[in-house]
Formats: sequence, structure tokens, C-alpha cells
Amino acid sequence: GHGSGKPAKGLRFTPVEPNTADAVTVPEGYGQNIVIRWGEPILRGAPDFDPARQSARAQAGQFGYNNDFLSLLPLHSERHRQLLVANHEYTNEELMFAGYDPEAPTREQVEIAWAAHGMSVVVVREEQRTGALRAVPRHRLNRRITATTEFELTGPAAGSAPLRTSADPDGRRVRGTLANCAGGTTPWGTVLSGEENYNQYFANAQQVTDARAAAALKRYGFTDGASERRWERFDARFDLGKEPNEANRFGWVVEIDPYDPESTPRKHTALGRFKHEAAQPRLTRDGRAVVYMGDDERFDYFYKFVSSKRMRRGTGAEVRRHNLSLLDEGTLYVARLSGNSPAEEIDGEGTLPEDGEFDGTGRWIPLASGDRSFVDGMSAEEVYVFTRLAADKAGATKMDRPEDVEPSPRTGRVYVALTNNTDRGKDGKAGPDEANPRNANKHGQVLEFAERGDDPAGRRFDWRLFLVCGDPEDPGTYFGGFPKDQVSPISCPDNVAFDDYGNLWISTDGNELGSHDGLFGVATAGPQRGRVRQFLTVPRGAETCGPVVQERRVLVAVQHPGEVDGASVEKPASSWPDGPGRYVRPAVVAAWPEDGGRIGR
Ligand code: FEO
Ligand code: CA
Ligand code: CA
Ligand code: CA
Repeated sequence: GHGSGKPAKGLRFTPVEPNTADAVTVPEGYGQNIVIRWGEPILRGAPDFDPARQSARAQAGQFGYNNDFLSLLPLHSERHRQLLVANHEYTNEELMFAGYDPEAPTREQVEIAWAAHGMSVVVVREEQRTGALRAVPRHRLNRRITATTEFELTGPAAGSAPLRTSADPDGRRVRGTLANCAGGTTPWGTVLSGEENYNQYFANAQQVTDARAAAALKRYGFTDGASERRWERFDARFDLGKEPNEANRFGWVVEIDPYDPESTPRKHTALGRFKHEAAQPRLTRDGRAVVYMGDDERFDYFYKFVSSKRMRRGTGAEVRRHNLSLLDEGTLYVARLSGNSPAEEIDGEGTLPEDGEFDGTGRWIPLASGDRSFVDGMSAEEVYVFTRLAADKAGATKMDRPEDVEPSPRTGRVYVALTNNTDRGKDGKAGPDEANPRNANKHGQVLEFAERGDDPAGRRFDWRLFLVCGDPEDPGTYFGGFPKDQVSPISCPDNVAFDDYGNLWISTDGNELGSHDGLFGVATAGPQRGRVRQFLTVPRGAETCGPVVQERRVLVAVQHPGEVDGASVEKPASSWPDGPGRYVRPAVVAAWPEDGGRIGR
């Protein structure tokens, strides 16, 4: 019966035990290699990494810091090579610069940090005897996008008043992308990336006195006084007192064309502005693009965008131009979820309601479409730029930090990581509901939903919780109905990906079970549904990001290794990956079966 038998195809490995090793630990019989690490030169002319003599110019040609989302795209013109795109979410100055003084960063340190943010495009080659991947430096497609690269604002709010600044009176050109968290790979061969915690880069919210503008800044988490990195001392656009609209030019989904290193990357206003964790595209049957998006904040919302135009097939320049405009026009929706069990059965502790499941139905509430607003008292432009305020008015469901999202290529069902929400049920905050059923939720949950009629453009969906994470021995956890004595403990799901078998892979950030973060695989259908198995763990202080699961390899981004309170270059908390006495370095890791076979076969 249910709960016995072999693990699902693709997940047949010996699970890694929870641990606190300062290493990437993979299953027995698996090998691993570092694909690329912070500071490795990727552009022509960039020097080798030398942390004691780092410069902004060097960093601008080297792989950036804190790799998060990963995308691997095909490179058909070159045998055994693929195109890797990685985001660089933020910088840990105390681990990058010896003797760093957070009160008084130097101009060079700040400019290095600007160059270490953004994204990297780097060609990688597949080693033939193993599943290893290795970076190909100086390839013509390699590219760095940083905090100062020019972006174009596109879509219905481009050029609107809240996007205009003294440097850009037209409101259409922005320098840089910041806080790039998860993302998505489009069916038309581009990469999307969400600008998430960009509020941290801006100073002096208290100097904005216009009541509406001040309220919007507050809703988006901007704070008074100096910013953490003091960038405002070196570029006035980070000072809200001097340039109040610059902050409105961040918080978008950006799209880059990794096949054209000369292309100007874009920020898509039609997809709304919030703390974008991810942007996961799929197509409707008639070829329109649908993008699912989480706003990663406690009690914030889950969104989708549906394009009005259809993707075209083919490779010509005209087709490419058309597809690159798909995200300029469409409808932006936010999710409202209703449970089907009586509210009094949701006890805040994760006890299953009498019908045996946390489940219900949902509606997609339209916020704006092109120039038309569906929100009282807000213009369409205001809906796009201040999307959180629009969704507040629309009565969207307050979720437990929506992170990454992924539709199953096998079933069409969609999986949303809700990482945690320790404020749920606190005084003055929202209490539990059937989709967010636990108070003081430390471990998070994974929600599964099916669009009605399997139509991703539709207005209704059915949902249930697939996993209620934590220690399987905790009665308030749930693993898709699978016997809990046979699963790996999992906490704080963040990034999600599917393999070709239809297994969901989940990476974690912030494990609250006393062991390090890691990567897990789980079947979503069939008799093995819910049997979570741990595939790897990451070093001290790191989160696991960006999983990509291919037939012969698993790729993860090891983000912020050694990020532990009080740690510094002089007092490191981790010696990964290069060993004691070396700088700790965020890096991309590939893992593969040493016998050259398939993952989890
Ligand atoms: Fe950058 Fe929501 O994790
Ligand atoms: Ca129910
Ligand atoms: Ca994340
Ligand atoms: Ca996270």
C-alpha cells in the first residue's frame, strides 16, 4: 500500500542526513565540482581573483557575489556547452573586505559592491566522463550586468511621473538592477529575475514629507536614516531626501536576453512592483505568456500576469523582437484563497481539519490591464508602481512569504514555496487561515494549485497544501499524506524546480531544525507523493538556491556561506570552498552520479 516500495524514479539515492558540516554534502556515490565562484574572471581582460587587491574594475569582469537564481539555457551552436545565467542578490562586505568598517566604507569598496551585484551570463562546458560543468572564461556571450548597467523601463507605467528622476526626466532609463532573487527561464529563451529587497539600499525615508509618498515608502519597507551600506554617500540617487523617485525604479521583474550580450535589459512595469522573489513563466494553450510571481514579505501576496499577445515560434530576428515584447501588455492579477473547512477547525497549530486536508478554492482578482485600472481610487500607472497598495484594496490573501513557484511539466499543477512567517497570529497581525494554518510559522509550507480547466489564464483555481514543513515527528507537519517516518525533515522552502520525471526539488533558506540548509526532492504524484528525500546540504551560514536538475547533474547556488553574526574576513565562520586561510566565496556547485548515469535512477 501507500508508503512502501521504491522511491520514485529520479529520487533513488541514499538521502543525506541532516548535518552541520562546513561542506557541500552529496549522496554516497555522487561527485561534485565548483562550476564558478565569486571573483573568477569571466570577461576578456578581467584579472584573476585577488581579494587583497580587489578593484571595482576587476569585479566588473568577474563573477559577482551571492549567486541566487540559476538558469541553464541550450547553446546549440557549440557542442557540450550550455549558457549559465546567475543572479547576484547582495553583498556581504564584512566577508569581502579585510578590516571593513560598516560606518565608513571607502568609495572603492562601494563601487566593488555595485559591480558585485546584478547578474552574470557565462558559458559552461560539460565534462564528458562526469556530470561536472566548468566555466568558459572570455567567451563572447559572457556578460556582467551590475548595479550601474543601463536598463530600459517598458510597459504601461514606463515614463510615468513616479518613475522620473533628475537623471532621467523621461522615466525610461534606469541604471542597474538590485537584490535579484529567484527568477525564471522563458519559453522564448530569455531569463527573468525578481528585484526583491531593494528597500535596503535607500536612505532617509523620513525626508519624504508628501503624505502619500511617505505611506507608500512605509508599505514597501523603506527606513529612516542611513542605509546599511551607506551608498547614498557616493551616489545621491540612493538618498530618498534628494531623489525620492529613484526607489520606484527598483522592485520590478527584469528580463535579459542572454544570447545577445549587447542587448539592453528591461524592467517590466506590466508585472507590477513589489518585492519580487521569482517570476515563473508558462504558456496557455493558445501561446499567451503567464507569469506567476511571489512578493516575499510576511503577509504579502501571490500574483500572476497574463499577456495579451501570443508567443511566436521560430528563430528570426522579427520573431525574437515580438517575443521580447510579450511582457509589455496584459493583465495583472492577485490571488484570493478561501478554505473549505470551518474556520474553527484551523487551530493555528497545523492540526488537519476534519476533511483531512488544508484545501479550498481561489480566485484571480484583476488589478489592471494595459491602461485600465480595476482598483478604486488608483490609476493603472499607480497600480503598477504601487502594486502592494492596489492588492491591499483588492482584498488579496495575506500569505506566509510567497517565494519561488513552479508548474509541473507533467501535471500542470503549480507549486508555491511559502517559506515561513513567525508573525502569523501575533497581536495585531492576521491569524491562521486554511492556506497559512500555523501561528508563529517557523518552517513554512508548499502550496499546490490547479488552474480550473487547466487554463493558466483562467480566473479560478483549486488549491491544497502539499507539504506543511518541519520535523516529521511534529504532529503539525504534513507530507502529502506520505508516512512521516520515511521522509527527510525539511524547513523553510525557498526555491523550487522540476526534473523531467515530474519530481519537485526544493531548496531551503533558514532551516529552523538545527541543521544546515539543503536541497530535497519529492514526488508530487503517484504512490510516492510526499516522500521528501534530502539530496544535499550546504556549508555553514549558507542558503541553498537556484536548483537546476538535469538528466546527469544537479546544479545549486551556494549563497552567503559564512554569513553568521559577528563573522568577518578576520574571523570567518566558514572556510568553504577554498579551505582555511582563504576568503569564503559564494559559488555554483554541480553534483552528479560518479558512475556517469542519471540522477536518482
Ligand atoms: Fe531573496 Fe525571498 O529570498
Ligand atoms: Ca479542508
Ligand atoms: Ca529566495
Ligand atoms: Ca529566501
